[in-house]
Amino acid sequence: MQEKIIIDCDPGQDDAIALLLAMASPEELALLGITAVAGNVPLHHTERNARLMCDLGGRGDVPVFAGCSRPLVRELVTAENVHGDTGIDGMEVTDPTQRLQQQHAVDFIIDTLKGAEEESITLVPTGPLTNIGMAMVKDPSILSRIKRIVLMGGAMREGGNYSPSAEFNILVDPHAAKVVFACGRPIIAMGLDVTHQVIATKDRVARIEALGNPAATATAGMLNFFNRHDSAKYGFDGAPLHDPCTVAWLLQPGLFEGKECNIEVETESPLTIGHTAIDFWGISGREVNATWIHAVDADGFYDLLTDRLARFGET
Ligand code: RIB
Ligand code: CA
Repeated sequence: MQEKIIIDCDPGQDDAIALLLAMASPEELALLGITAVAGNVPLHHTERNARLMCDLGGRGDVPVFAGCSRPLVRELVTAENVHGDTGIDGMEVTDPTQRLQQQHAVDFIIDTLKGAEEESITLVPTGPLTNIGMAMVKDPSILSRIKRIVLMGGAMREGGNYSPSAEFNILVDPHAAKVVFACGRPIIAMGLDVTHQVIATKDRVARIEALGNPAATATAGMLNFFNRHDSAKYGFDGAPLHDPCTVAWLLQPGLFEGKECNIEVETESPLTIGHTAIDFWGISGREVNATWIHAVDADGFYDLLTDRLARFGET
């Protein structure tokens, strides 16, 4: 039975690869739409990049919607220093053939959920949670239609990557994140603690590049660019491949290990805003509201990603 999903993203090389992984997996995933949000780069780039992935993945059937151009409360911060000015530096950036839908992404999310059965749609946010939080505030009746939310965001043992205390997606829009973590629907949270275990090493990138089809070649190019910043920052042999962990979990959850926890988001402190307080040992007495993913079979993850990217070369 296909899982019906909406991917909400801020491509971003890693978001782009998550989109390709989902597009290569139609047996398991019915990708109802892609909603773009401002994050790694401004919205006009993230929506264009999402449409370029539809071209690259041969999925003109997947509609793309532009969403919020800034967080709910805070000013937008972006990450061109990591992703390059286009957001997907490392591959050729052209004008997409895939067109942009006129409907606002938040309204697409609301209308899709309102037209769906109870607990039938999975949301896969891989950027700041602005679109998702806005949809929940605008029309709370959509909550019962959400099966689960599989998101990339947060950090516990790894510490922050955009402030000492906070991971980028949550830091950009902590107020939207607070809304999402309080929504009461099942949340699978993939933070830096697990994504820092899936490093795009040179050997892994070479395996992808050897596939030789356009999607794999673009993926290798994006990874070679994406690797430079985090390799220098962390001393890793490559960058953590954050966002595809969400789609990989949907495809092969057995690759991952998680623990039910309470996760709360700091929205007040100027010093630690965007921090995810993860009650891993259950000491706060606060209610469990998420499953915190903390371990992954990294080789199994890259086997899955490489096998699915190979499908783009099959006639
Ligand atoms: O902190 C990593 C996250 O922030 C990833 O989703 C990356 O694409 C950026 O959005
Ligand atoms: Ca992202």
